[in-house]
Amino acid sequence: MIAINENIERLRDTIRRHDKKYYVENNPEITDYEYDQLIKELQQLEKAHPHLITPDSPTQRVGGEPLTQFSAINHRIPMLSIDNTYSDAELKEFDQRIKRMTGIDVHRDVEYVVELKIDGVAITLWYEKGLFVWGATRGDGFTGDDVTANLRTIRQIPLKLESVDRSQKIPSVVEIRGEIYLPNREFQRLNEAREESGEPQFANPRNAAAGTLKLLDPRITAKRRLRIFRYAIGHVEDSELSTHLQCLELIRGFGLPVNPHTRVCENIEAVIQYCNDWEKKRRDLDYLVDGMVIKVNSLALHEQLGATSKAPRWVISYKYQPERAVTVIEEIVTQVGKTGTITPVANLSPVLLAGTMVSRATLHNFEEISRKDIRVGDHVVVQKAGEIIPQVVSVVKEKRDGTERTFQEPVMCPECNGSVQQDGVYRRCHNPFCPAQAKRRIIYFASRHAMDIEGFGPALVEQLVDKGLVKDYADIYHLKHQELTDLERMGEKSSSNVIRAIEESKQRGLDRLICALGIPNVGTHTAEVLAGHFDTLDALAHATHGALEGIYEIGPVVAKSIVEFFQDKHTQGILEKLKAAGVNIRRQTIPSSEKNPKISGKSFIITGTLQKHSRKEAEMLIKQQGGRIVSQVSKKTNYLVVGEDPGSKLDKARELDVAILDEETFEKMIR
Ligand code: IVH
Repeated sequence: MIAINENIERLRDTIRRHDKKYYVENNPEITDYEYDQLIKELQQLEKAHPHLITPDSPTQRVGGEPLTQFSAINHRIPMLSIDNTYSDAELKEFDQRIKRMTGIDVHRDVEYVVELKIDGVAITLWYEKGLFVWGATRGDGFTGDDVTANLRTIRQIPLKLESVDRSQKIPSVVEIRGEIYLPNREFQRLNEAREESGEPQFANPRNAAAGTLKLLDPRITAKRRLRIFRYAIGHVEDSELSTHLQCLELIRGFGLPVNPHTRVCENIEAVIQYCNDWEKKRRDLDYLVDGMVIKVNSLALHEQLGATSKAPRWVISYKYQPERAVTVIEEIVTQVGKTGTITPVANLSPVLLAGTMVSRATLHNFEEISRKDIRVGDHVVVQKAGEIIPQVVSVVKEKRDGTERTFQEPVMCPECNGSVQQDGVYRRCHNPFCPAQAKRRIIYFASRHAMDIEGFGPALVEQLVDKGLVKDYADIYHLKHQELTDLERMGEKSSSNVIRAIEESKQRGLDRLICALGIPNVGTHTAEVLAGHFDTLDALAHATHGALEGIYEIGPVVAKSIVEFFQDKHTQGILEKLKAAGVNIRRQTIPSSEKNPKISGKSFIITGTLQKHSRKEAEMLIKQQGGRIVSQVSKKTNYLVVGEDPGSKLDKARELDVAILDEETFEKMIR
């Protein structure tokens, strides 16, 4: 019995360690699939020994049944708001007010802690004896919603506090406050999936995070990958703290993420400088920052300053102006997506917004056009929703002169004249042979995160489909060199390159192939999850609803999409063609004994000529040891391997700060 108990505890510790690696250190050691296997193993052990289940077990994150409503929680210490400032002068006034109220000489400095103001949802977490007991939203500041079940699904929220270096005592009671947010990448992923499944999109990551926290079914919350930064202690027992920085250190000591860009500033001038520094830099982050929060460091001064009914006097925010601009809608065009969704898009007179020229904005759907009464020729206010997707906020109606035209919603598919049906707020073309849909699907199939066929871009696809040479993505594999050279802008050399790239893509791997198929609701990540569970494409194609839903990250909507996709006769024909063309439909497993930790999970590009290996050999070695080959240098690329006569990729890698390896270092790595 003891042995089982120990086994279970050891497994839980392993899982918690991986949670930390993934969400706190941002440096996962194992794949999501391997993680799921550990959870499954633990679930099975706990099922066999239910009396050994503890509330802090990682299996308890995703609770049972959906709630019918949230219960209310009274905040012991109110969750107040923060007063806003918008200028350097107002920050100086804040500093002077603090000195005036606490009797500090005007010539002396007050020390501040400056933090990024994360644009998410405020939350408070209550721990007793180190165990997570409940968590709640801010609500009206005095009473919030008990969203414990949803918070438990967030892997960045430990169910049990542990001291990182074991030196720190866990307080008997501690309440930690912070901001829940959805990373921009996740927001985009979520909105893409919602668009595909015909659900309304979220306007920005904050709304998405708030909506996700308020879901009554924690199983859906679990799939959305919310994150958290902590920034304050609400209530704490038996702990002596005298500065705000010490509060943050205490939080960090429990291994809980505090934003790394937090800075102590010795006076208000340094605060102003730091706020100005972040005005632009914040746009490089993968989460939204709408300002900075400036906090007096000394907790004794907090006591002295107190609070108004609305906000404490020792804290203020410095808000960045949302980036908006006014421009004219030149025309409204429609786009047909790969699943037939018809989306209206506004072509704008180009305007500078958040550092980039914007000439297009999504209008989301036709309902939105009528709701906002948007007409062609209108002056409109545009903004980057969460500074990601340019959006039309409102119409400047005073500027209308009567020449503006209302937009007629399409009654037929604008590309193939096929019939259009309303599907939720969306309109869809239902013609399975619609060439516009086919083009989008083929472009997606060949794109970088799918089959990565270099040179197979939109211009080429356009010509191939229009000429009838390619009707679906399986036809790509029957293209002949001569057929390509006959096309516009395709010489001998580029045709050979494309043919070679097509050939190479046959071995891209099962995850890439699943992604490339364009199954509604299945993007890169879900494709990886599926490839981890099924050995071949056929096994996935025959999977039942139940089997799919049994996979940790797959829900009913995705399961339904997959089943419907593979049941379609038209799709089945295309898949047969892919197989006949020799596209690899099996998972290539790399035994973990052969994985090289320096290479595994890392992305590589090779440029120039290597002495010891041909390019192909080097790429094979990387792949064999668990690494990936990518075709273009991006910020996400881990290494550029440089041989003789390197190309422009070297400049690009230097520009983006990608690690550069010479052949010798690379050789040492792969050995
Ligand atoms: S401190 C009384 N620190 O901003 C002070 N708040 O506009 C408690 N926020 O409700 C909050 N980043 O949701 C603090 N680093 C940060 C923050 C932060 C974002 C949010 C928080 C608060 C809102 C006020």
